[in-house]
Order: sequence, then structure tokens, then C-alpha cells
Amino acid sequence: MVGEILKSKILRTKRSYGELLGVEPFLPWFLVLRIWFLEFFPFPSRNRSMSQEFAFQTNIGAGASHTYGIQEVLTSCPQTGELLDVQYDWDRIPVPKSLKEFEKKWSNRGNPLDFSGVWRFRELLPFAPDDQIVTIGEGQTILQNSGHVARYVGVNSGGLFLQYEGLNPSGSFKDNGMTAATTHARMVGAKIAACASTGNTSASLAIYAGTTGLLKVIVFVGSGKIAFGKLSQALDYGALTLQIEGDFDDALQQVRAVSQKAGIYLCNSVNPFRLEGQKTIMYRVLEGLGWEVPDWIVVPGGNLGNSSAFGKAFGELKQLGLIDRIPRLAVINAAGASTLYDLYENQGLRWNNGAPDAALIQSFYQQMDNENRRASTLASAIEINRPVNLEKCLRALDLCDGVVREVSDEEILDAKAQVGAGGFGCEPASGASVAGARLLRHQGVIAPSDRVVCILTGHQLKDPKATVNYHTGGENGKSGGVFQNKPIQVSNNLESILEVIGKF
Ligand code: F0G
Repeated sequence: MVGEILKSKILRTKRSYGELLGVEPFLPWFLVLRIWFLEFFPFPSRNRSMSQEFAFQTNIGAGASHTYGIQEVLTSCPQTGELLDVQYDWDRIPVPKSLKEFEKKWSNRGNPLDFSGVWRFRELLPFAPDDQIVTIGEGQTILQNSGHVARYVGVNSGGLFLQYEGLNPSGSFKDNGMTAATTHARMVGAKIAACASTGNTSASLAIYAGTTGLLKVIVFVGSGKIAFGKLSQALDYGALTLQIEGDFDDALQQVRAVSQKAGIYLCNSVNPFRLEGQKTIMYRVLEGLGWEVPDWIVVPGGNLGNSSAFGKAFGELKQLGLIDRIPRLAVINAAGASTLYDLYENQGLRWNNGAPDAALIQSFYQQMDNENRRASTLASAIEINRPVNLEKCLRALDLCDGVVREVSDEEILDAKAQVGAGGFGCEPASGASVAGARLLRHQGVIAPSDRVVCILTGHQLKDPKATVNYHTGGENGKSGGVFQNKPIQVSNNLESILEVIGKF
């Protein structure tokens, strides 16, 4: 349904975009020639005018379409206030006939664009000329089949996959989006960029600025709301780091106002170009599965950029005939930060063909404010009250026959410990996806025979305090978690050490 709507919307916007360019109803000779050329010479290098002609921005939602060029720096539609999508005139763009064609890029790793796990799929996010792309080697991530976690979740052996986005240069999935956002920043000539963050977005933006020297960066974080590993990154990479009195939502509100007033380029996930990069996480999942579509994608939900990007990725792949079915999507909230869960599962909020119930959302937030309820979870990355991509996520849930669940901090930390015991580990927020998969399996929503991919969004070393407290019980003499692995005090003496090892 959404696919159809998206498609009809794309057709509508295509017309207005065509009118904007003055290329309809007759195409000028040079465009005809270019289309002919692209038809016969796939994977050409993308030049400046190509990306500017065939990519555009448009508002989401069922109302009138408004279209903007990609040189415009926007985080919402100036006319409707809605979120924006980057869309493409796919009919005029050379797209591979099958996903397998992307395998040709593997043999060309000397080219940084083909090495990048984001840009080797650039035909599916064709907004940037090749010579403008900013890459630091992001996306070298793996899909691991985990028997250990499969047993924990309760699916058949071989059916549980972990997508390790913590292996990115800054240690989280954010680099997939930041390479795209900083590319767009470069295209529009931005010199200063900013973001609000629970820690990973800021680390990512800071590393792109530090590594490339293209931008100065200002990051806004909530006071005391950021895991130390992440804060240390922003400081080390040289970002101007502002600790705002308040939480992530406060920091986001401020950075939006500051960016607007001071003309600073905003890199939060309201930036539609960032989400284009995050689509590639799904391309790599498919790549890891030999281009087969899994039954489930399970992802933690915070500001809902990832889930929104995943929905867009699958909608486009289906529309382009590159996949024949769409996997189901499960978005997992922490119980202490459960806006999406409350609205979607308890109050029945739906995409509703592009017209979600705005009054319901408003009254939910009003009540939140009246009761002074603020998000609170040990999974600090997803401690968010008002997810900015709510509407886009509803669209993704609609397209992917999605479900939303909430899991407690204990469930998150237990799942995280199981990921660690069976693989590379992850930070708490990422553990939510495994805890959510387990819950859905117990509820019978996920079947034992399903193929399930859990997205591990951040590296294990991002939040060592959470991990050490889980295993030791922390400083206050509390007992550790169910799967704790306590360090053992032993005297500085060979016999005592051998005695302890003997009991292992
Ligand atoms: N997992 C991790 C490790 C994160 O850092 C985030 C978001 C999420 C999940 C949620 O992803 O927003 O796409 O739903 N972190 C943001 C930040 C908010 O500022 O680093 P989402």
C-alpha cells in the first residue's frame, strides 16, 4: 500500500520536478543521449549535473507534493512542516538489473568509493557526484550467524544473524548516515556542521570532520546523559562540545534553532541525506545473505532514523524489481523510552496512507509534559522522548508489516551479555534488538524457523561502565546480572592463582 503511495507520490513529484526543469513533455536532445548512454554503459561515474537533475527532495505525507532541489539545505518542508525524503527519478537513472551486479565492486577495492560499504551501492543513493563524496572507509561491517544467540532467542540453529554496525570507524551505525550527510554538506559548500546527540551521532560527525578537515563541528549533548566512550570521541576528534543542561530532546531543540539562525549545517536524522546512507545497512544485510531477503529485521528504536531508512530501502528495492518480497520490521524501544511503542501498539497510531493522526501525537506529548515524564533508560543511546522521525517510521512499519515492542533495562543487559558471550559484543541500546527478538519469539510472533537479523548498532566499548556494572554489580555492592562474569580477587601468589584457575 505504502509502496503504491510512495510510487504515486514519486510520479507526482516527478512531474513537478520535470516542470521545474522544463524537460516535459519533450526531453532535450542531450538528455535523450545521456539516457541512451546510461542504458548501454551501466555504473558510469556520476557527474555533477546528473545528480542534480535526477535527485530531488519532497515532503512525505498524503497532501500536496512540494519539491525542492538537492542544493537546498532543508530539514523539513518549508510549506507543510513535514519531514523530507530524497527521491530519485529512477526512470532516468541506470540501476543494476540485479543486486548480484554489485559484486563487481568487490574486485575494485582500490577505489575508495567501491571500498566503502555505503558508496559501493551508490547507484541506489544517487544524489552525489563521485568527486564530492566524503568517505573514510565506512561500512566494513559483517553479518554474523550466531548459534549462541539463536539459542538464547529461541530460533532454529542457523536462523539468527547479527549485523555488527559497531565495526564502523567511529564504532556505530551512524557513519553510514554521516558519510552521506557530510557529502551533501560538501556539495552545498557548508563549512560548519552541528548535531545534538546521545553520543554516537556526535562521535560520528566529529570523526568525519577530524579525518577530512572539510568542516568545523559543534556537538550538543545532554548533561550527564552520554556514555564516556562516546564523549571521549567527540573531545578527541576536536569537536566543540556543548553540554546543554537537559536531555537529548532539549539539546536537539537547541541545535535546530541554532542551525537555523546561524546557517549551520544540521546533521541529525531530520537531514534526509543522512538516511540515504543508512539504507545501505540493509543492502549489506542482503549481501551477507547472498541477496536473499530475511523474514525479520529487528532494530532498536530511538530517534527512528534507522527504521525509517530501512523501510525506504526496501520500498525502493521492491519498486525497482531488485527484491521480490519485503521482510517484516520489528522496532524495539527501551521500556523507559517507549513513545513509539505507546503510540503504535497501545494507541493504534498508524501511517494511515500518509495522514497519521497528528492530534493523537500532540495530545500524547502534551500529557507527557503535563506529567513531567522524561525518558529514562540505561540504554542511554535511545533515551529519547520525541522521536523526530516518528512519521517516517510509521510509513516503514506500514510497508514492512511491522511490530513495535518495549523491553526492560534488565532484558536489554541480559541480551547484551549473551551477544558478548557469543560474539563481538555491543553497547546496551543494541542489546534491545536481541531482547526484542527473544520477546517476539516467546510471543509466537517470530516463528522458530524464521530467519532473523538483529542490528547491533554500536560497539561494545562505547559504554564500558554499563558492562562492568552488569558483571560486577557496580560500586554500590549490588549483585550483577543473570549472566554476570565477575573478576576474581586473587593474591599476588602463584599457588593461589593456580588454585583459582583449577576451579575454572
Ligand atoms: N542504537 C544506538 C547505539 C544509537 O546510538 C542510536 C541513536 C540508536 C540505536 C537509535 O537509532 O535514532 O535511528 O532510532 N543514537 C542517536 C545519537 C540518537 O545521538 O547518537 P535511531
